[in-house]
Amino acid sequence: MGLPTARQPLFKITTRWRSLELLKHHRPLGLANIASGSRRAFDIAQDRPVQPVTLLRPHAAHRAARYFIEKFPGRSLYAVKANPSPDLLKVLWDAGITHYDVASMGEVRLVRDTLPEAVLCFMHPVKAEEAIAQAYHDYGVRTFSLDTIEELEKIVRATSTGGVAPSDLNLLVRLRVSSEHAKYSLASKFGADPAELKQLLIAARQASDAMGICFHVGSQAMSPAAYADAMGRVRDAIIEAAITVDIVDVGGGFPSTYPGMEPPPLENYFQIIHSAFEALPISYSAELWCEPGRALCAEYASLLVRVEKRRGDELYINDGAYGALFDAAHVGWRFPVALQRDSKAKPVGFSFYGPTCDDLDHMAGPFELPADIQAGDYVEIGMLGAYGCAMRTQFNGFGVDAVEVVDDEPMATLYGSSRDVARSNVVTL
Ligand SMILES: Cc1ncc(COP(=O)(O)O)c(C=O)c1O
Repeated sequence: MGLPTARQPLFKITTRWRSLELLKHHRPLGLANIASGSRRAFDIAQDRPVQPVTLLRPHAAHRAARYFIEKFPGRSLYAVKANPSPDLLKVLWDAGITHYDVASMGEVRLVRDTLPEAVLCFMHPVKAEEAIAQAYHDYGVRTFSLDTIEELEKIVRATSTGGVAPSDLNLLVRLRVSSEHAKYSLASKFGADPAELKQLLIAARQASDAMGICFHVGSQAMSPAAYADAMGRVRDAIIEAAITVDIVDVGGGFPSTYPGMEPPPLENYFQIIHSAFEALPISYSAELWCEPGRALCAEYASLLVRVEKRRGDELYINDGAYGALFDAAHVGWRFPVALQRDSKAKPVGFSFYGPTCDDLDHMAGPFELPADIQAGDYVEIGMLGAYGCAMRTQFNGFGVDAVEVVDDEPMATLYGSSRDVARSNVVTL
């Protein structure tokens, strides 16, 4: 099979996607079940809630989704894993996100129930055969990822009818790529064995209607170079296997912004991906996909917690490692914090203890808060929309939180100039 030649540069893929996606597939749902927010985090703190309160900012998720739809030079899928809230799914759908990356039957059912017209892509490379069969036959899923011949055989078996293999599968082979630029590695668990890759690509091509290559550079990738490197691997794989590729899916990994982890603008990532895609030996009609989780929802939620006790520079708060602060506890991430009252005291570093009865419920920080903070004070912890609220458990009887919609700006954003807006009467550090 002859290889297509490299794509011409400056191909305007952006115009191709935009209008099709919105006109053909998209029907807004309306946000009837989300009370319209007219309050700020500060106002909620004045109510002195006893439980932690998750503060939702639908406008921030909508803005992030519009950014990807308008600027990413291809199709943006939402990786449901990052935050499976049905309210968020509706916000993203209303913003124009029509395709959803799901990893389990729970996510398949959730998205299908919430968004009946959404296109589901089962992007977990290791699936139960029963899940594949159910997703294909009962939920209309046609897109699956895989990284072994065994998984390919499993998919073909599970989707066959009366021993006849289907002709409508979209199969994406997951490459193993480096996570060196990411704060969370995804380099070990998945990705085709290089020794098997050529054979796997050829076999997947034969079993597919549309055939693709996907990868994940690791979460919170701090440099666009991560994608350039991975696209180099894609290029090598296509040339080595001499196959026609219909879809290149650059996965998730797009960063959000946290204290000490301020990434370059997302447009830099998009430019590098676009250039690399244009240089691939693929046909003119090939599609470019991405699957952001974090970048679409990190700004969607924050958490309002109460200080229950102070011991020196340690604050005992009412949410923690088993709640929305998994990353703060287990990966040592610092999140932005803001005391919800006036204070002129100088900022100092605090660590947090969460509410459960064990030492593991500890967030080292340091979290910079005014030196006069005390029990009874309220603190907003920002940027918890991705892998924050989604990780909450009810361990030790905690984890029941209230939810409020607010319309002030998130504590940080990659999508505007909103930092510190509407926070004039609180200390924002
Ligand atoms: C297959 C796949 N796609 C997308 C994502 C989303 O990644 P991120 O939140 O870093 O954008 C993940 C997260 O683990 C994933 O496993």
